[in-house]
Amino acid sequence: MADMDPKKLFIRTYGCQMNVYDSERMAEAMGSKGYVEVGSPEEADMILLNTCHIREKAAEKVYSELGRFKDLKDAKPDLKIGVAGCVAQAEGEEIMRRQPLVDLVVGPQTYHRLPDMVAAVEAGERPVDTDFPVEDKFEVLKNRPLARRAPAAFLTVQEGCDKFCAFCVVPYTRGAEVSRPPERILREAQELVERGVREITLLGQNVNAYHGQGDGGDWTLARLIWALNDIDGLERIRFTTSHPNDMSDDLIAAHGECAKLMPYLHLPVQSGSDRILKRMNRKHTAEEYLRLIDRIRAARPDIMLSGDFIVGFPEETDQDFEDTLSLIRAVGYGSAFSFKYSSRPGTPAAERPLVDDVVADERLQRLQALLNDQAAAALEGMVGREVGVLFEKSGRLPGQMVGKSDYLHAVHVSAPDSGPNAGDIAVGDLRRVRITARAPNSLAGELI
Ligand code: 5AD
Ligand code: SF4
Repeated sequence: MADMDPKKLFIRTYGCQMNVYDSERMAEAMGSKGYVEVGSPEEADMILLNTCHIREKAAEKVYSELGRFKDLKDAKPDLKIGVAGCVAQAEGEEIMRRQPLVDLVVGPQTYHRLPDMVAAVEAGERPVDTDFPVEDKFEVLKNRPLARRAPAAFLTVQEGCDKFCAFCVVPYTRGAEVSRPPERILREAQELVERGVREITLLGQNVNAYHGQGDGGDWTLARLIWALNDIDGLERIRFTTSHPNDMSDDLIAAHGECAKLMPYLHLPVQSGSDRILKRMNRKHTAEEYLRLIDRIRAARPDIMLSGDFIVGFPEETDQDFEDTLSLIRAVGYGSAFSFKYSSRPGTPAAERPLVDDVVADERLQRLQALLNDQAAAALEGMVGREVGVLFEKSGRLPGQMVGKSDYLHAVHVSAPDSGPNAGDIAVGDLRRVRITARAPNSLAGELI
């Protein structure tokens, strides 16, 4: 019976890890309407773009991507096209005006209502829902099918941001800081483990500002991590993204004491110039950041650090930029993300004079060259060491498996044909591995 076939949903995800998490939740919400996920827009009965508004380029991509779906919609008039995520939140009505192909717009806080919105589309409407609702979207979505999951999963614990860095749209697109109650997070973690998950990355735009209300009052992120540490079958815990000013003493201590908390910390500083940090409204100095790094390294000497940097922030001078390079040299990052400043409408920095574009490009290249050298040195430093590796998929060579090290490096391992470790690496295994060699962006090793 043709009309009993499941309908097909294609989701394309842009931007951050929280969008990856949200896309999974949207797929599950649509699963309750009989939709299954497919791998290409051509097969789909419904296409969802889960969008990112953080920089202009990311936001503009949405419109060019939508334009490309015109032929698909001409060929299949019933095809539904939805825009979700942070561009939807910021530009919902404008999307509807600019792109008649779009059937629905749903913001990051209302995607649990997607099934109803699809019903509205079927009734001939073009719904736009960018509310900040009172109900808890996570609770509405909680009765999902218990399908098997990949070994590493994301779990949103906190959303939104009250920091108002002068360049950033997140406080406007994701809204004010909200923490989920700890017992709901712990229940979701337990479910993930029952579905095969071994590693959980706790997500929040400001994850270390987490302050859930639960058993015994106020919960910090450290307390939540310690509670997760007690879940049998969960082997690894990570969290991202953090603000330096919310690195509390208990969280720093957890890095030294909590066995399942991995030795890797993403701690963006954005700039190494106090003048620029002040204009960015970061509320800390370069020196304070460096002292914080000292304290974190005292608690966990082998920790791998990662950061985000913006170059060409309004009024950034050559000296400001040199200060950023100095800070990077002082810290020594294992990996990092760096961006040319992008002026975002509605943010305070958008009012300030821009740095010359050619100058900004040059700075970005120099900064990335330095960060690439540091990343290469970090990889090189792994050779000869023993690390834990959580295996996630098979590699390109026969018998080869690929996983992530404790420090988040990709590691390729071939199980030997004979001996005690012969042919026995499975997806989801966490094994000790000796690193034997490095490639440009990954490592190779052997089981211990
Ligand atoms: N321009 C460039 N980069 C930005 N980021 C946030 N806003 C902007 C902007 N307007 C970067 C910051 C942040 C990361 C997620 O994106 O480095 O940490
Ligand atoms: Fe993009 Fe930031 Fe929104 Fe994530 S929170 S989707 S990075 S704008």
